[in-house]
Amino acid sequence: MDTNFQGLEKIPKHVALIMDGNGRWAQERGLSRIEGHKEGAQSVRAVLRAAAQAGVEYITVYAFSTENWKRPPAEIDGLMKLLVHSLNEYEQELHDNHIRLLVMGQFERLPLPVRIRLQKTIDATAHYTDHTFIIALSYGSRTEIADAAKAIAEKVKSGEMKLKEVNEQAISNHLYLPEIPDPELMIRTSGELRLSNFLLWQLSYAEFYITEDYWPDFREEQFFHALEAFNGRDRRYGGVNKK
Ligand code: FPP
Repeated sequence: MDTNFQGLEKIPKHVALIMDGNGRWAQERGLSRIEGHKEGAQSVRAVLRAAAQAGVEYITVYAFSTENWKRPPAEIDGLMKLLVHSLNEYEQELHDNHIRLLVMGQFERLPLPVRIRLQKTIDATAHYTDHTFIIALSYGSRTEIADAAKAIAEKVKSGEMKLKEVNEQAISNHLYLPEIPDPELMIRTSGELRLSNFLLWQLSYAEFYITEDYWPDFREEQFFHALEAFNGRDRRYGGVNKK
């Protein structure tokens, strides 16, 4: 397996991941969906390690969308329990690699034990500056943008902001994590060509990498291939090629 991250010329500062295909991975093996999610949690761990090794500063994973609340209660409960279990498993690794944990989404909608467990790790890793691991939980991009618009409208109404100050930067500043740079690379597994309400604003200029692999099969080697593909892209941000 050749995963010489040091040999890559460009390393994206921020990589966002839509982890799709856990259910299909499990189904193909005659296992329960939650077994697929469990194996998927191991992929999260592998990607975190590989990203730290490669020098990627920010990793954002879409672990639970606002739409995922519509799944059967047993699956939701299994996912929440898996999240707590995974945090227990990863915690040491976060410390070893100096990774700070952040959460984006409707934190207050999560069950109390999950919030308590998340907050414990968020607090324990808050001082790390090398790497940041962001878990999108009960996250929906349209809600995030609508909330930003509402917050800005309130400020304009109260006189705290002027109408002419409402611009792209102002919207960015009112999203859940305004200090985090936009992702440069978005990876989606299991071949789906959709954004599924994930970081609609922040992914405006990101390169997309779609792989047929199911998320539980996406490990260090697959992450390396995604970074290799990113290296082959010509990013012009709407301008012309200077070559
Ligand atoms: C999508 O696959 C996956 C999810 C909705 C959950 C992702 C969660 C994990 C990988 C668990 C651990 C996460 C962390 C951060 C520790 P799917 O169920 O939609 O698969 P399908 O499309 O094949 O049905």
